[in-house]
Amino acid sequence: MASSSRNWYKRWSTKEEREGLTWGMVIDGTQFYEAFLKIGCKIDETDIVCEVGSGYGRIFDTFSRKFSFRRWYMMEINPERCERLRQKYKNDSRVVVLCQNVDFLELPEKFDVGISTLTFKHLYPDCSTALFNVSRYMNKGGFFVFDIIISDKDRIAFEEANIINYYAKDTLKEFINLAGLVIEEEGVVDYPVGPRNLYRLGKRTLSTSILKRNELNRKIISLQRQCYVLEDQIVRFYNVFKGIRESLPDWVMRRIMRVLQISW
Ligand SMILES: C[S@@+](CC[C@H](N)C(=O)[O-])C[C@H]1O[C@@H](n2cnc3c(N)ncnc32)[C@H](O)[C@@H]1O
Repeated sequence: MASSSRNWYKRWSTKEEREGLTWGMVIDGTQFYEAFLKIGCKIDETDIVCEVGSGYGRIFDTFSRKFSFRRWYMMEINPERCERLRQKYKNDSRVVVLCQNVDFLELPEKFDVGISTLTFKHLYPDCSTALFNVSRYMNKGGFFVFDIIISDKDRIAFEEANIINYYAKDTLKEFINLAGLVIEEEGVVDYPVGPRNLYRLGKRTLSTSILKRNELNRKIISLQRQCYVLEDQIVRFYNVFKGIRESLPDWVMRRIMRVLQISW
């Protein structure tokens, strides 16, 4: 993992009580299950399921009461959380816990149903690599359902030890398309804190050469997005700064400008 991304993944390597993962309250998977049905999804008994960022297993707990399936891969970046999941589901032979970062996904087999909740918004610098990996491991005829925050423009909220990504719809569509995926359905999950956008993606068949070219374009668009996000933040910072300039004594202004190495 690159050193900068290690910083933004710090939260996921620390111990955190389970309610911390879902806005300070323990919730079950009902809201997601209802949205899953609404966009025409189901799981069959022969299906292989892959869940990215399983947290404390709330999605599995709800879904395993509603559907039968062959296997359920729980992919989690946090080793301690993985251990807890292994303990919790030790009597269910269908569950396989994999301690992995989705950006370096390695699965023993392809999946039919992919699920990820409240996780893709935290991927640094964006979810484009994860979408490529999901596409690589998705069976033909399979699908991947995930929630994300769509906004009027691309934005990243840098929190203390993790990020929250907001996507302009066109950027997300571009990442989906380049990954060899296609939007089959769109919906909304009604979480206790408000609605989140939901996508069901299917797989397109692309030649190896096109996938290679797409991978290069993905990197370019990802970098362009980061530049845009930074530029936007600098402009916003500058405007706030301009607003308070009048009320600051001259010596404070001079010092700030020296530290920032800017001239007014
Ligand atoms: C906000 S929690 C959501 C947990 C669960 N999906 C839910 O909805 O209750 C995000 C989870 O994703 C995991 N995670 C974060 N980044 C990840 C990554 N790059 N690869 C795999 N798991 C990741 C975290 O450890 C955490 O358990």
